[in-house]
Amino acid sequence: MMQSAQTDALRSTLRALVGEAHVLTSGDLTAYEQDWRKRERGRALAVVRPGSTDEVAAVVRACAQAGVSLVPQGGNTGMVVGSIPDATGTQVLLSLQRLNRIRAIDPANLTVTVEAGCILQTLQEACEKEGFLFPLSLAAEGSCTLGGNLATNAGGTQVVRYGNTRELCLGLEVVTAQGEVWNGLTGLRKDNTGYDLRHLYIGSEGTLGVITAATLRMVPLPAAQLTAFAAVPSLEAAVQLLGLAHRHLHAGLTGFEVMGDFALGLVRKHFAQQNVPFGGLSPYCVVLENSDHESESHARAQFERLLEAALEQGCVLDAVVAQTQAQARALWHIRESIPLAQAQEGLNIKHDISIAVSRIPAFVAEVDALLAQHFPGVRLVNYGHLGDGNLHYNVQAPEGADAEAFLRDQEGPINALVYAVVDRFHGSISAEHGIGSLKRDKLAHHKSPVAMGAMRAIKRALDPHNLLNPGRVLAKE
Ligand code: FAD
Ligand code: MLT
Ligand code: ZN
Repeated sequence: MMQSAQTDALRSTLRALVGEAHVLTSGDLTAYEQDWRKRERGRALAVVRPGSTDEVAAVVRACAQAGVSLVPQGGNTGMVVGSIPDATGTQVLLSLQRLNRIRAIDPANLTVTVEAGCILQTLQEACEKEGFLFPLSLAAEGSCTLGGNLATNAGGTQVVRYGNTRELCLGLEVVTAQGEVWNGLTGLRKDNTGYDLRHLYIGSEGTLGVITAATLRMVPLPAAQLTAFAAVPSLEAAVQLLGLAHRHLHAGLTGFEVMGDFALGLVRKHFAQQNVPFGGLSPYCVVLENSDHESESHARAQFERLLEAALEQGCVLDAVVAQTQAQARALWHIRESIPLAQAQEGLNIKHDISIAVSRIPAFVAEVDALLAQHFPGVRLVNYGHLGDGNLHYNVQAPEGADAEAFLRDQEGPINALVYAVVDRFHGSISAEHGIGSLKRDKLAHHKSPVAMGAMRAIKRALDPHNLLNPGRVLAKE
């Protein structure tokens, strides 16, 4: 445990490195110390906000010398309690928010080089101005950062076409646990010169290095993007529609999301101003997007053929196709409002599972029945990225129940039930949100000892003194 004189000395060193105004030790630090889902509140020795890669490196070296661990943080929108300090008051919260420049756009190479603290939406808008699409998209895009997206290998709503953040990344700049800078911002599409370090840091949730910048892929802006919202009679029908959409739209299929009626009901309840179509008509709705590089009329014709076939086959009951960009945004907004509506409804048990798409209906039927049998009254908030086989199969306390007590008493047994079926279906307990501290103790039960051993060896090799986000992803050794 650090003595207060040592704490004071470290704080002074940090102030000298990044400036007095960028070392916060008092006042309201809730935005840095509380996670987005309000699951936990930590306490930082200091919140440090460096303004350059060299400052990040200097901060890491100073903390290493003092034996103090660091928790990197971007927008603090993570779902698994990985971006806040623990409750001891002994960790430095390293906020990357001031490293937010777009360093360069290279249209010929179709790349953009950006600093870790840049907000995702800012990057999307900058690329669009130059005629390009940066195709990562998620409901937190107005506040999450590229560093956080890379550190969690975020997914989102365009993965069906463009892949996770990993697939969009061609290079990284990283400050190592030793406070050295690795510049891997080559922008190369082919480079087989040994181990690909970039892929180790992506998805490592701040436990192996601090990402300070990245070179990312852009694609030319499509000529048209059309969005449809469809009521489907069952989850089986949604999967059938997905197959049809792949066949009719090919690479034009850029989004395919499913939403259970109860999840949509929460949007109706908490955001009454939104016009959610098809209330009560069907157990599930789907939102899908067609991006077209020819023209809007071509996109519409393709979409119409798809929906006609789907109506004929009975896998769609009714559908609306947005006529304007504003309508398309409104339809997407309904889908994106589900996590916010669920948060307003109260504390909940969140799942982020992936299963082979073809097996999702069987999985949901089985788990729905088991939960109803063993936890009567629980409300299932089921929605997610069906195109990727990734569901947020979330569980809300029974109506009127004390949500805190429900979480305390039932989260363990409910997780155990859900994850046992996930294992039987050869799925994953974290498709896109990561492990953080919330799922850390479950990891070893769902990954092989060989994989766990390799992960621990990598952590020991890159961060031998366990200075970077200790206790996240892997338990402290
Ligand atoms: P933080 O929350 O600040 O950090 C997340 C993790 O990354 C932490 O472990 C942190 O230590 C580490 N980290 C952050 N920055 C760095 C860095 N520069 N170097 C090293 N480590 C770092 N996720 C999805 O995958 N798909 C979704 O569709 C999706 N939708 C969301 C919708 C909402 C409304 C919200 C609130 C969250 C959503 N998320 C989603 C979860 C979240 O993972 C993403 O929002 C995002 O990737 C996190 O970015 P951030 O900057 O907020 O990271
Ligand atoms: C989403 O898909 O909306 C996100 O991953 C956030 C969530 O699961 O709540
Ligand atoms: Zn998601």
